[in-house]
Amino acid sequence: MAGFSNVMEALVGDRSTLTRLANYGLGKSYGNGVKIKSIPIPSISENEVLVRVAWVALNPTDFKHVDVLSPRGAIIGCDFAGTVAKVGSQAANKWAVGDRIAGMVHGGLFPDRGSFAQFLKTSGDLAWKVPPGVSDEDATTFGVSAITAMLALNTRLGVAWLSESANRGQGPSRKDTPILIYSGATAAGIHSIQLAKLAGLTVVATASPRSFDLVKSYGANEVFDYRDQAAVDQIIRAYPNLDRAMDCFSEGNSTEFCVKCVRKNQGKVVTLLDSGKSTMDGVQIDFILGYTVFGSEFQWLPPFGPKFQKVPSDNEALRHFYSAFPDIVKQLRPPPLKIIDPGLENLATGLEMLRQGQLFAMPLSEFSAKLEGFLARIESVNSVLIDISRTKLYDEAVAMLHGIADDIQHSRFSTSTACAPITPAEIGMANNMVSTLRSQARILSSHADNGYGVTASLHGLVTGVRSNPIFGITDPDITPTPGRTPID
Ligand SMILES: NC(=O)c1ccc[n+]([C@@H]2O[C@H](COP(=O)([O-])OP(=O)(O)OC[C@H]3O[C@@H](n4cnc5c(N)ncnc54)[C@H](OP(=O)(O)O)[C@@H]3O)[C@@H](O)[C@H]2O)c1
Repeated sequence: MAGFSNVMEALVGDRSTLTRLANYGLGKSYGNGVKIKSIPIPSISENEVLVRVAWVALNPTDFKHVDVLSPRGAIIGCDFAGTVAKVGSQAANKWAVGDRIAGMVHGGLFPDRGSFAQFLKTSGDLAWKVPPGVSDEDATTFGVSAITAMLALNTRLGVAWLSESANRGQGPSRKDTPILIYSGATAAGIHSIQLAKLAGLTVVATASPRSFDLVKSYGANEVFDYRDQAAVDQIIRAYPNLDRAMDCFSEGNSTEFCVKCVRKNQGKVVTLLDSGKSTMDGVQIDFILGYTVFGSEFQWLPPFGPKFQKVPSDNEALRHFYSAFPDIVKQLRPPPLKIIDPGLENLATGLEMLRQGQLFAMPLSEFSAKLEGFLARIESVNSVLIDISRTKLYDEAVAMLHGIADDIQHSRFSTSTACAPITPAEIGMANNMVSTLRSQARILSSHADNGYGVTASLHGLVTGVRSNPIFGITDPDITPTPGRTPID
């Protein structure tokens, strides 16, 4: 198809192997180590879907990959939310073009897989459908850190799955079933606190005093300062049954702190960074890595770096977790977010800020993220227009068109304080959409039997908006749902 592009922009790693090895050796990095590159839109296999990325979340693993692990040209980024743009034949039982979708991909290692891009590919059964009422920015936060919490608690520490413990959290927590969440204010910690609490456990957390209220607000029963020398003894005295801990920091003496807390009961500690030990003082140490959920082998810094084998049970755990997610997500609160300016070009700054200890979600483009939702609604008017030919629901269709126009007019396109204001061209496009919708509503009112024209024009509008350079890019394979008319 002439005039369409098959490429997209992505943020990719841009460090040589030598530089990354030097960074590893020195424990620090220079420069941002990434660049924006035009690359082919990934092709999908039968069980995959192509996602038009709207929002991404940044995690420490992203800059760690950039600094040490990411080969030059690997797409950075794991967490995403967006809409389905294309569906593989075996994923069609779950996904349709236009569905809202979120999840985590194995970013940072591959040239065709990563979330800091205009499109990404993911397995259809390793992502979740974002239900109405959950925003894209919140949805992005249930990737890396939520999956890590799930792996640690549900698969390694014997905590009941949220999908199987829906009512347990309603009653008081039982003091004889405590769990320690070390560094509860981390993103992984906040998700872990919630999963444990909803499963009916008593949550003992550690945090800096500045984060005590935050950690309690997510459900921790009691919080101790991890810098307080007396904290370990206080925890042991208050929770003599404590036999499981999740170390969400896993640096310095954090694992030793956890081990001391569960040592009397010969318990278990899950860590997020590898200390190289599988036991300490009779306590089992279990290092987990979220990337094992993808069900494939991989290697860091090949050919010398560590190889990671498939862990089929972790892959199955993610399927289980995400299949229940549309139902359980409303019981969970996302971690606090800092939202920064939209655009791939701002991700390098975001990564640098994250190196200094903050958490973000950001829109790739606030405008296109919102517009995608409106376009899906415009496409959905077609089904009402089809019904019009049979049931004369003209008023309903007219009201829908005006409703979408009203929402576009009243949306925060130009007033967001958190995100960059949209450009005059984007405002122009929004205004054009409003006037097209209003004029189509007028045509429908006055020519009640002329639904065909309205449907065709709505498809023209959707196609036109999607192919507009302001909105993003289009490719030959990504076209709106084929037009149907009220007379077919
Ligand atoms: N293995 C895996 O699959 C996996 C998955 C996710 C994360 N991780 C790793 O786990 C770590 C946490 O990741 P995250 O995204 O959850 O972190 P995050 O949200 O960026 O963590 C920020 C929090 O870390 C806490 N913190 C800072 N210095 C600390 C210290 N010296 N001791 C204890 N806590 C400290 C602070 O809490 P206070 O305000 O309480 O000080 C801060 O609020 C990172 O190293 C990450 O790479 C590994």
